[in-house]
Parts: sequence; C-alpha cells; structure tokens
Amino acid sequence: MGLSRQELTVRVLVRWERTRRSLRTCVKRVLLNAGVRDHKVWGTVHAYCMELMKRLRTVDAFLEAAVRNARVPDLDPWVRNALRVATFEMKCNDVKPAIATNEAVRIVLRRLGEGPARFVNAVLYDVEELSLDDVLDRARDEVERLAIEHSHPEWFVRHLLDTVGREELERLMRANNREPERYLRVHAHRVDPDRAILALEREGVVVEEDPDVPLILRVVEHDVPPVRTEPYRRGWVAYQDKASAAAAYALRPDPGDAVLDACAAPGNKSAYLYALTEGELELTCVDVNPRRLRELRRNFRRWGVEARVRRADATRLARELRGERFDLALVDPPCSSSGAYARSPEARWTVRWRHVKRYARGQLAILRGVAPLVERALVYSTCSVTVVENEEVVRRFLRGMDGFEPERPFTFGSPGVERWLDHRYPWHDRVRRLWPHRHRTEGFFTARLERS
Ligand SMILES: C[S@@+](CC[C@H](N)C(=O)[O-])C[C@H]1O[C@@H](n2cnc3c(N)ncnc32)[C@H](O)[C@@H]1O
Repeated sequence: MGLSRQELTVRVLVRWERTRRSLRTCVKRVLLNAGVRDHKVWGTVHAYCMELMKRLRTVDAFLEAAVRNARVPDLDPWVRNALRVATFEMKCNDVKPAIATNEAVRIVLRRLGEGPARFVNAVLYDVEELSLDDVLDRARDEVERLAIEHSHPEWFVRHLLDTVGREELERLMRANNREPERYLRVHAHRVDPDRAILALEREGVVVEEDPDVPLILRVVEHDVPPVRTEPYRRGWVAYQDKASAAAAYALRPDPGDAVLDACAAPGNKSAYLYALTEGELELTCVDVNPRRLRELRRNFRRWGVEARVRRADATRLARELRGERFDLALVDPPCSSSGAYARSPEARWTVRWRHVKRYARGQLAILRGVAPLVERALVYSTCSVTVVENEEVVRRFLRGMDGFEPERPFTFGSPGVERWLDHRYPWHDRVRRLWPHRHRTEGFFTARLERS
C-alpha cells in the first residue's frame, strides 16, 4: 500500500533531524526506501516538506502552547513530527482539523502504539482551539514574536533588526516565505543562447533574458520542470540564481586572464565565467572538499567546462600553489546561507549565531590566504545577509591588508549596510547587496577589491 503524503513527510522530517543533511537528500532517501518512483510524487513531497520547513517555528510555537508536561524537543521524534505535520495542515494549509488529526493518530498508532497515539490526539485537540494571536501573545518580546510570526531564527531577527530595521526585515522575511524565482544559466560556449531559449520553449519552459546579468534567464512559467528538458540534460543550461551569477560577473575577466576560483565546488560561478568568456580564460578551480570536487568534475564534464582542478586549502594557498599568481580571483566561501532561506529553508534551523561568527572567521582566513596571489582584483561573495559575514569581513580584511580598495562590482542592486553597532563602512556604496524582497533573487553580498 502506498504511504500518504503526510506519512512520507513525517519520515523525511525524522530523517532530517537525525542526519541534518539537506531536505532534498532526505526526501530522496525516504522516497527511494519507500519504493516511490513517480517523479510527480517526488516533486509534491519535496514542495510540501519545503513549505513545512519554512513554517517550522510557527508550527512549533503552536505545539509549545498545546503540549503540557513536556517540551517539544523532548518528545519522541515520530510523535513530534506527526504533530508538526498535522499542525501545519490545520493552521497553514486549511485542512480540516479532524482529517489532519486522524492521519497523525494513525501514523503514530502504527509506529508506537496506543498511548502515544492518544497523546497526539489530545495535543491536536488543543492546537485546534488556538489562534495565531494566542500563540504570539505568549512571546516574551518583540524578537520572539517576529521570529514566531514569520518563522525565522531569533538570532536572525535580532541581527537584522539592528541593521535594516523592522519594516525592511518584515519585507525580507515575507519574501523568504514565498516561492523563490528560478533562474537558468546558458552555457554560451556550447550553444547559441537563442537556440537554447527556443529549445526550452518548445518543451513548455518560457524564459526571459535578465536585463542585468548576461546569460541569465528567468523562468517565467513551465509545463515541465526545466531539469526534465533536453537543453538541461544536454548541459546547455543549468540552474543558477541571478545573484550568484552576478557575483561571478563582477570579476569582469578579459580574454586570456588567469582566474582563480578559490572555493569553487560545485562549480557554478566558474561555469558562469567560462560561459561568459566562451572559454577564453585560464581557469583554476580550488576546493578543500574532495566529495564536492568530484561533483564539480562531473558537472564540468556535462557542461563542457575546461579548467585546472586542484584540491587545496585556500587559507594556505600561497604555499599550496607554490607562489603562483592570478590576474583575478573569486572567493565564495562557506556561509550561513541566510540569503537562501527561500530555497533552502532548513538552513534557518541548522545554523546558529555562534556558527555565523565561526563562518566569519573562516571567510576572513580564506580572503587573507588568497589575496597575496592576486594581481588585479579579488571578488568576495556570500549568500548571507548578515553584516558579520559581509561588510564586517571586508572591513577587517582591509584593515589588515594594504593595497586593496573596494570598487563597485556592478551598477544594479543596493549598496551595502552603512553601519552596524560601532562600526562604519564608508565604502558601503562601493559594495553591492541583492535582496530577496527588492531584487527577486537570493540574498547576496558582492565586493570587488582592486589592487590600488
Ligand atoms: C559556497 S560554496 C562554493 C560554491 C561555488 N562557488 C559555486 O558557485 O558553485 C563554498 C565552498 O568552499 C569550500 N571550502 C571550504 N573551506 C575551504 C578552504 N579552506 N579552502 C578551499 N575551499 C574551501 C567548500 O568545500 C565549498 O565547496
């Protein structure tokens, strides 16, 4: 017998809590184990899990209010996640409470027996009685209230309140809870962009060329997901957010330039640069993670990208590349992914404030490791919206490293943040931010640091 969407979702959530792998990976594992082969079911379950993950803080706040004599984190994982799915259905999806409750009770009864099933029934009865206002009234302060209402981490709300203010923050969080735009990159070194556009349209994928970033197409509508089309299978196009492509575009390579991508895997920004120059550059791709480098090599084969690929630690690059020099370098290090909350909502719940500070230390170390190898310019980018990982990293880099000046990476987008706590960023107009609520992209930061 096929499992219901609710039961598959509970299994995905249990797996995600245990492994902390990406939601996509968890969905894949669960559906393969359950013998589900139909791609439409995959798409539906994945979309449903994404929506629940976006609303997780709100859902948990209902449960915190309804569960007595226990804390939500201490519940059995099957009980907790069956409760989450049913609460999500009732409060966010307009499913009739009786239907949502019956399914959760049935799942828990089969898995854990009568006692836990009765508990689930009782909690969901109380959830049904609660309104969102009841739940918000229990918040201890404004930060917690906003975090619950918009389902974002409290550290994120606190930090962004300090930097952009309440109105802008609420617009950002609302955008993060909507469906993100989809963009494709065209591999102009393999196919004429017009031909790729026509081929996509023949399969029911309507796209529009982006006015700012060459070779980037916005998916306007589609009958089939782009990933199932011939142009995608043939490696003519690949998914890439406009903001991610813009960061690579900021490098503006001349034909024949030696370009280093110091945190390259899985290779999207490098592939964009390769397509932009139609292969006319000497590209070196470095990454520290062998598994991700294998993925980069597979991608490059499919996309027709030629590059020298090296496993190395970018914090010690001068030693590892024996003093080699590059005209340009791109540093796109690991970050909190707080700009990608619409596409990867699970990042909201896995990254904490102490991790943000740790990311910032790593980002600075990589920038310092790469800078001595650069002749002309260095582009630093993250898909984070925190100041700590962006303006603050650039400020600390400039303070310790003479001879670099921020220069505008491109003209579209917004300036950087002007000040945070005691720190001022006088060059904030010469770095760029793209925001989900303003630019229909992921939240991204890009700085172009030129040798003076
Ligand atoms: C944000 S991802 C890069 C995405 C890539 N630029 C793209 O557009 O496809 C960050 C990458 O940095 C790599 N990384 C982390 N620490 C590193 C280090 N010390 N040296 C080199 N690469 C590192 C990670 O393995 C990861 O692949």
